[in-house]
Formats: sequence, structure tokens, C-alpha cells
Amino acid sequence: MARLNVKIGELSLKNPVMTASGTFGYGLEFADFMPLDGIGGIIVKGTTLKPREGNDYPRMAETASGMLNCVGLQNKGVDYFCEHIYPQIKDIDTNMIVNVSGSSPEDYAECAARIDALDKIPAIELNISCPNVKDGGMAFGVTCAGASSVVKAVRERYHKTLIVKLSPNVTDITEIARSVEAEGADSVSLINTLMGMAIDIEKRKRVLSIGTGGLSGPAVKPVALRMVYQVAKAVKIPVIGLGGICSAKDAIEFLMAGATAIEIGTANFLDPAVSIKVRDGINDWLDGHGCQSVEEIIGVIS
Ligand SMILES: Cc1cc2nc3c(=O)[nH]c(=O)nc-3n(C[C@H](O)[C@H](O)[C@H](O)COP(=O)(O)O)c2cc1C
Repeated sequence: MARLNVKIGELSLKNPVMTASGTFGYGLEFADFMPLDGIGGIIVKGTTLKPREGNDYPRMAETASGMLNCVGLQNKGVDYFCEHIYPQIKDIDTNMIVNVSGSSPEDYAECAARIDALDKIPAIELNISCPNVKDGGMAFGVTCAGASSVVKAVRERYHKTLIVKLSPNVTDITEIARSVEAEGADSVSLINTLMGMAIDIEKRKRVLSIGTGGLSGPAVKPVALRMVYQVAKAVKIPVIGLGGICSAKDAIEFLMAGATAIEIGTANFLDPAVSIKVRDGINDWLDGHGCQSVEEIIGVIS
């Protein structure tokens, strides 16, 4: 058995496989399908300071090798999370990470501060890249000034591992990565979804309620891989790679491109146990290639 453990800042992961926010609920929903403590971390649903209803339906559409969604951060707010969800997930023996979103630097920071108080949440992932909300979300993630302002405000009030999730809907993602690193992010994760659109030709209308949505799944993998490669070369902090990962081979590509860990999103909808299979597949590949540790393959691509 190769050693699979990796570190993201202060955070120790038993293996580099995590599940992506918005595709794995609070983890509990998947407990019948796989051992939740078998993976390195679970990034739970997007959480905001105040409850959000999300967008109207339809908010999902299937596409070639992927899907579009415009769920729009539906959640019951951080206080509900602390009171009702946290007690149910706090003893799951893996890193339970909360994905935090907001409409201003101040409410990102307030939401993060409330989560800072929860002993068994060792990290947050800051979503400055949601393409499906009008107020905030991706707006912060597409300029260096916007991204810096959120990370600065959060860093003042959040003292544990801070992962910042980047938007691919930019010209140069390395600039944004560098600006959040400069404000004290411990890691960056990428990519969030790519802005897309689908049309119903019979109705002569756009399929999704708000017209556009975020594209995810295998269709985005080459774009995500290219961005992870570029960002890993541009920053010193560890990079978490995601976007279209469905198999151990996909995950190994991201690790070789420079990701220290990976997240699996849309693939959970097709196979709820995919993350454990990816973990085992990485291990088998490392064993089969005489590697003692997963660290031997991280960033090997020049
Ligand atoms: C239905 C759905 C809901 C999502 N909700 C969130 C969210 O709340 N916060 C977030 O940061 N990303 C969210 N995402 C983006 C995913 O976490 C991930 O970044 C993206 O889907 C790319 O990875 P994948 O191709 O493996 O799915 C969502 C994606 C989907 C498909």
C-alpha cells in the first residue's frame, strides 16, 4: 500500500480525494453507499449568512458529457447549519469542510467567523466563483481586487485553513490565484463551473430559469486540468484540482499537473461510491508503478 496522505496547509488528509461542494450534500446522504471516513475530506453544500431559496426551476440541464446547473446556493443559512447540521456531521472521521458564499466581504467574513467557532470544522472553502447568483458570488472571483477584498475580510476573522475556490470564467486565472495567496489564503481550489447555456428549440426558449448556468462534468476536464497546471506553477500554496474527474486516471492527471488533492463533483450523481473507487484506483496505480507515496507524482509534469 502506497502512502496516500497529503497536507493542505495545516490540514492533514488521509488521502487526496475529497467530494465537491453542492454535489455531495452534507455527506450523510451518501453514507449508505460508501464509508464517509474513507476519503480525505467532504466539502459540504454552499452556506451563506442568511437563508437562500435558490433560483426557480428548471435549474439543471443535461449536456454532452456534462450538465448545466443554476441551483443558486439554496441553503438554510449558517445559523441553521451550526444548530442542526453540525451536530449530525461533526463526528464523521474525515475533514468536514464548509463551502462559504456571500454577497459582500462583510457577510462572507461574518459567516466564516461563525464557522470558526465550530471545533470539528478544520477548514472552509470560500466560494468566490458561483456563476448562478446575482448578488456577489462570481463577481468577486473575476477581478483581483474583488477576490482580494473577500479574502482579506475573511482572513481577519477566520483562523483555520482557508481554501479559496477560483472561477474559470476569467482571462488569466493565475492573477486571481496570486492575489488571494497574497491575502493569506492557505490553498486554492479550482475550477468552479464554466458559464454555459442550453436552448429548447421547440419552445424557442433558454432551458434554465435564469437563462445561463454552470457547466460541469467530463466536458470541462481539459480546461480544468490546464488551469490547475498553470496555477500550480504560479503560486506556492497547495492547489486542489477539480472539474470533470470521474476515475483514478483523471485524478492522477490532476495530481501530475500539480494538484496536491482533488475533488469529485458531478460524477457523484452517476456513481455515489465513485470517490472511494478513485481512492483505491490511485493506490493501485501507485503500487503498480512502484511508488511509495502519492507525493512522488504531484507536479511531475514540467
Ligand atoms: C448541482 C451543483 C451544485 C453546486 N453547488 C456548488 C456550491 O454550492 N458551491 C461551490 O463552490 N460549487 C458548487 N458547485 C460546483 C462544484 O463544486 C464543482 O466546482 C464543479 O461542478 C466542477 O467539478 P465537477 O466537474 O467534478 O462537477 C456545484 C456544482 C453542481 C453540479
